[in-house]
Amino acid sequence: MIEVTNVSKNFGSLSALSDVTLSVEPGERVAFVGTNGSGKTTLLRALLGLIRTSGRISIAGIDVARAPQHALKHVAYIPQIAPPADAPVREVVRAIAALRGIEPRRIAERALAFGLSLELCAATRFVHLSGGMKQKLLAAAALAADTPILIGDEPTANLDTAARGVFFEQIQRSRADRIVILCSHRPDELAQIADRIIEFREGRIAHDTLHATNRAESSALPKPLRTAC
Ligand SMILES: Nc1ncnc2c1ncn2[C@@H]1O[C@H](COP(=O)(O)OP(=O)(O)OP(=O)(O)O)[C@@H](O)[C@H]1O
Ligand SMILES: [Mg+2]
Repeated sequence: MIEVTNVSKNFGSLSALSDVTLSVEPGERVAFVGTNGSGKTTLLRALLGLIRTSGRISIAGIDVARAPQHALKHVAYIPQIAPPADAPVREVVRAIAALRGIEPRRIAERALAFGLSLELCAATRFVHLSGGMKQKLLAAAALAADTPILIGDEPTANLDTAARGVFFEQIQRSRADRIVILCSHRPDELAQIADRIIEFREGRIAHDTLHATNRAESSALPKPLRTAC
């Protein structure tokens, strides 16, 4: 489903990715780990066609560099840093929903599960939401899209404990053939969801190992409290 073949990326004299080859099959839950600057985000951005690389990346057999719109129909993405959208939340949600061909209500339902009321925040400018609120909205939009591939770049870094619990519960409950790729620096999160852990070191894959998940009991998690806007 995802094929990365001999992908390299240099930024000036810095080699951010060096000859990375990997494939991910439907249903795999993959964690990208590694120290700061080891190349995780660069590879995710390459998968999303946001940067040009040497080598080849294909999603469902479609070359991402040649036909990004077709390839990326399959992918929902939660970025590490939220885009600086100045529009009100209402419009941001409508735009994402239109792009994905889903009802805005579906995003609102997911956001509410994280403790974020899009009704109360409708008129607030997206840039004025707190870091965690932005991440809740982007995670809700990605989950609502129900694409065959979900990519999250430290998607829970700013979430409160309860929302983090809801996020992983929803990942665990999503369709069995969904590919999930997440970057994380938190071993407890990886233990919950990842059945494959890929460790990056200086732009290369240092280890690619299978991992038995240790799924947390959802009943042990606190319920999200509503955030004020
Ligand atoms: N647009 C860019 N221009 C120049 N250098 C870049 C750019 N993007 C990334 N880099 C460099 O590439 C290297 C890999 O960065 P990347 O963001 O992929 O790391 P990461 O593994 O995601 O780290 P973190 O855990 O901190 O998120 C770093 O040295 C970074 O400074
Ligand atoms: Mg990163």
